Amino acid sequence: MNLIDTLNWRYAAKRMTSEKVANEKVNEILEAINLTATSAGMQPFRVLSISNPEIKQKLQAASFNPQVSESSHLLVFASYTHVSKEHIDEYMELVAKTRNIPVESLNDFKMKLSGFLSMPEEFVRTWAAKQAYIALGTAIVAAANLKVDSTPMEGFDNAAFDEILGLKERGLQSVVLLALGYRNEEIDPYAKAKKVRIPLDELTITLN
Ligand SMILES: Cc1cc2nc3c(=O)[nH]c(=O)nc-3n(C[C@H](O)[C@H](O)[C@H](O)COP(=O)(O)O)c2cc1C
Repeated sequence: MNLIDTLNWRYAAKRMTSEKVANEKVNEILEAINLTATSAGMQPFRVLSISNPEIKQKLQAASFNPQVSESSHLLVFASYTHVSKEHIDEYMELVAKTRNIPVESLNDFKMKLSGFLSMPEEFVRTWAAKQAYIALGTAIVAAANLKVDSTPMEGFDNAAFDEILGLKERGLQSVVLLALGYRNEEIDPYAKAKKVRIPLDELTITLN
């Protein structure tokens, strides 16, 4: 299947069968998430991969979507609530080590990044959450490529998720979910519904 056929195949599954997604497939989706583009490469979020049925059941009670408990794996995208000087230092060390360059050669980059990330806390929180959404998009495509169904979800109680998963203690906040599993065609009315999209020439504004 080419990419467009794959994207036509995928849809946001409303009901799932609870069939397990193989670990290799989940790992490939996580690997794709790790390869996503992020602003300055900072990756200011973490992804929780939850297959534990008791935890999913607890989260289900704080969610408006049955896919939370019906999924094989629930991915919780959680972004940093602030970015500290230590985060920036760690990132500089990682760049230097990975590219085998002196960390001092990154001083300009570090100064610009530190300036940007000293913006008001609300700005930084929004910025970090946006990066998690880019990863969400990558994960949706990666799942479809493996013929794994997925549902992106914002319909949940963020504060309750943060509490259940102990995210605050890690400096994180839940922003968006992705249920991974397999569509239940028997009870999901959307499984055979036509995709609704505006025409491409309405979406695209071409300036030649
Ligand atoms: C950020 C985001 C949040 C969403 N939240 C929910 C949700 O809480 N529950 C749900 O059933 N679908 C949710 N969806 C799925 C959309 O309704 C769906 O993607 C849209 O209707 C387009 O249909 P398609 O993805 O099936 O092509 C969400 C999608 C996105 C991208």
